Amino acid sequence: MATETAQMTIGEEMYERMAGSAALYERATPVVPSGVTHDSRFNGPFPIYVRRAAGSRKWDVDGNEYVDYFGGHGALLLGHCHPAITAAVVEQAQRGSHYGACHELEIRWAELVTEIVPCAEMVKFTSSGTEATLMALRLARAFTDRTRVVKMQGHFHGWHDYATIAMAPPYDQPISRGIPQELQATVTGIPAGDVAALAAELERDDVAVVILLCNGLTSEYLQQVVDLAHAHGTLVIFDEVVTGFRYAPGGAQEHFGVTPDLTTLAKILAGGYSGGAVAGRADVMRMLEFRDDPEWMRFGRIAHPGTYNANPVSAAAGVTCLEIVRDPSVQARATATADAIRTGFRDIVERRGVPARVGGWASMVPVSFESKLPARTLTERYRGAMQLNGIDPSGMQLIVSAVHTEEDVERTIAAFDATVGRLQAEGAI
Ligand SMILES: Cc1ncc(COP(=O)(O)O)c(C=O)c1O
Repeated sequence: MATETAQMTIGEEMYERMAGSAALYERATPVVPSGVTHDSRFNGPFPIYVRRAAGSRKWDVDGNEYVDYFGGHGALLLGHCHPAITAAVVEQAQRGSHYGACHELEIRWAELVTEIVPCAEMVKFTSSGTEATLMALRLARAFTDRTRVVKMQGHFHGWHDYATIAMAPPYDQPISRGIPQELQATVTGIPAGDVAALAAELERDDVAVVILLCNGLTSEYLQQVVDLAHAHGTLVIFDEVVTGFRYAPGGAQEHFGVTPDLTTLAKILAGGYSGGAVAGRADVMRMLEFRDDPEWMRFGRIAHPGTYNANPVSAAAGVTCLEIVRDPSVQARATATADAIRTGFRDIVERRGVPARVGGWASMVPVSFESKLPARTLTERYRGAMQLNGIDPSGMQLIVSAVHTEEDVERTIAAFDATVGRLQAEGAI
């Protein structure tokens, strides 16, 4: 097998070993643009099509097994089909997927968030992280009666209009067409970690809110952001859609010991089902409340519909998941596994003498290589080669769960070794 495939490129071998996925991709492209339903699932020459998943593993339509590090885009800290979450979802689905009414599980879900997340005095559920950051920005703008938003260059907050701004170089151009110019003037991107740049923006006393991710930053900087913002009547949102319940039960804000005014949550929040939330200061969250005051109802409050907000199935999954992940040994286990992978990868990079960086935080393991190839091409080759070795990374990073095993780690390190060797042989790195 090794000698037969030695002559093949990564792409050629994928067509041979993943023929069923290639065929499904061909079927998809006439009806779905580029065949994918999330940009990050796009992968040349074709994405894998998965039929089944359990724990840390998943299987494609050709029967290939993968140790999965896509992790449901970060939602699956407890792996695929966690037995308690699956049981709760099945039971709930049999009792109704949508009541068009309030239900007890949504209260328990909100109580858990307030018990676990430091800034969370009150909670409002949405269907996704994108909706959560959209709502958090609107809440902050309404509460402060200001328009301008400061965000950090390169920080991803979903795909609504405001989140497209300052996402990728050149930072003065949004990452999508179709964003009104007028709206672009309301969001300013500054470099994360640059206190002087932040101070210069805040000085004008017209900034409603600073929104940022916490990973890659320090406690000291995060506290400076909060203190500086507050000195100018500006609110702070920590977008914890990824870091929430992953860094620590209470997310990055617990890990760094810095409390924002508002936080946005999704992914692990809903245990692998769809759901998001804004949580934070009660006085800000009360902008959403109903009052017996026609003026407030028409001109004061934030309106918030949303058919699937806190739907019973997501709430059942979320409650069950949060009851488990509130135990910090869950995050500790995932982080320890990620540390073992980091160590293994660094040994390989050193032994093979490749210019590469293995970094990350908690249970996220990003890898970068120096390469002459365009970033997208390198990612496709890396991901393809890892898949051929039985590993599915999330682009250039591994999203590690609390259920990955020692055997998974061994397989992953061996696959990385083979992948790096193959990329070297192809002249990609
Ligand atoms: C930090 C962050 N915020 C917001 C979002 C958007 O969440 P969703 O994909 O649920 O809309 C994401 C998604 O990956 C994210 O990573």
